Amino acid sequence: MTTLTSSGVWAALQALARTERDIQLRERFVSDTARFAHFSLQEEGLLLDYSKQRVSTEVMDALRALWQVAHVPRQIAAMWSGEPINHTEGRAVLHIALRHQGEAAIRVAGQDVMPDVRRVLAKMRSFCADVHGGHWRGATGQAIRRVVNIGIGGSDLGPRMAAQALSAFRQTGIEVEFVANLDAADLATVLARCTPDDTLFIIASKTFTTQETMQNAHSARQWLVAALGEAAVARHFVAVSTNHAAVSAFGINPDNTFEFWDWVGGRFSLWSAIGLPLALAVGMDHFEQLLAGAYAMDQHFFSAPVERNLPATLALLEVWNTNFLGAQSRALLPYSQSLGLLPRYLQQLEMESNGKQVDRAGNALQCDSSPVLWGEPGTNGQHAFYQQIHQGGRVIPCEFLAVIEPDYALPGHHEKLLAHCFAQSEALMRGKTLAEAQAELGIAVSPAPTCEKAGSLAPYKVFPGNQPSTTLLLPKLTPYTLGQLLALYEHKVFVLGALWNINSFDQWGVEYGKQLASRLLPILEGRTPAEGLDSSTAGLIAAVQSIRV
Ligand code: F6P
Repeated sequence: MTTLTSSGVWAALQALARTERDIQLRERFVSDTARFAHFSLQEEGLLLDYSKQRVSTEVMDALRALWQVAHVPRQIAAMWSGEPINHTEGRAVLHIALRHQGEAAIRVAGQDVMPDVRRVLAKMRSFCADVHGGHWRGATGQAIRRVVNIGIGGSDLGPRMAAQALSAFRQTGIEVEFVANLDAADLATVLARCTPDDTLFIIASKTFTTQETMQNAHSARQWLVAALGEAAVARHFVAVSTNHAAVSAFGINPDNTFEFWDWVGGRFSLWSAIGLPLALAVGMDHFEQLLAGAYAMDQHFFSAPVERNLPATLALLEVWNTNFLGAQSRALLPYSQSLGLLPRYLQQLEMESNGKQVDRAGNALQCDSSPVLWGEPGTNGQHAFYQQIHQGGRVIPCEFLAVIEPDYALPGHHEKLLAHCFAQSEALMRGKTLAEAQAELGIAVSPAPTCEKAGSLAPYKVFPGNQPSTTLLLPKLTPYTLGQLLALYEHKVFVLGALWNINSFDQWGVEYGKQLASRLLPILEGRTPAEGLDSSTAGLIAAVQSIRV
């Protein structure tokens, strides 16, 4: 099979990169005054402006040709039909079933999964109604006022991020907290705000074996039992998991367990019962609007031609920036405080999915895969790291996210926020030449500067520009548009995996550290001798032990 990197299209893109690389974005806007119209897409209220990317029509056409060369449509069909495309774990990948609104069956190994999906959604709805209505009571008869979700990775980041994103839709009378870190500071500081009588713990773990979650769950259980006794566990703990035996062994009633399935990857699980803390935070109606938004994006992804396809366009731009313009990272810059946790959520989605070095056949990849994703909400980031994006000399593609209508309205804020967002992408695109810097400083370019101080400042005020960026505008941050947005990124990840021919759905890279940690724990605890360790690890352990004894 011809790999993508040995295809003619890839070679054509390499040639284009050599010629296009030095064309300044500001020149492109001068030569094509309708560039925005030519390089932007609209879909159900979302606006994707990629006119400030370093692409031409020719580049986009060549990138779009990769779609067929890599057989992306065939790979989409394989996902949709429940084939075990996560081949290293022998699993189907069907998070799309979790938000499916149509009548059609979705099958895994011949079995329609939709009845189970709907049953668990109905169970979530009834549970939320019980908690919100004060019918679900703690062991001492108190209604639940605080929910603590204990989980990590995909069992934490999605509902945590979405609960913050949708805080304007929050259900009154209930606080939802999240604990993930093994560091006791995480759980202890949350417990300090809780009272046992009205607190409910959700233990969220696909495997129910993850050390961080199990340690936090056991500590939370001890805290509750110390206050209310063993029998209280049944009224204060529920679980979300695929591992029913381990949940029962922990002491959680199977009736209070919300199941999901091995065809839901952790980082794609927000749409499953892993979303329970979110549903409790914003109400089940809003949770279902989130699913509806994601479903709308699914429909768009499956049906839109590549040139109008939002996830495909984002993925192809990432290939261009990463594999042809040499970008090593991408900055995600939400101009929305509510989307402040989105960079963290997308770090897992993108980097755990596509931070890979071998292809689906186990051969070394012939090109870079996922860039490092990082970011912070604007305008905070402007006062921290934007200096480097503007003048640090590296290609750092930026993705600006903004909402047209604010979710919290205070006079005077939102227009300023948008002005900053648009100004940043304009500055990155346009740059500032030496002559412009000199003119700004009031220096005649020739003859020599009349003011020495101003003249010496000019080089510092030069901006190279030509930094690629995309701006994604949402009409408003609602459960529906958040669903659209998250599904957009999920499908972008899928397309990139299909193009790079990697399995986006396993995560073997996180296993090695876990293995080594379980070898080091008994040594740190002094139960086994420190043998066979490198001098650094041995030295660090010795330093801890010398202070503890
Ligand atoms: O980090 C590895 C990982 O397996 C993630 O993919 C997953 O989201 C996380 O651990 C938590 O796993 P679990 O839900 O099984 O506790």
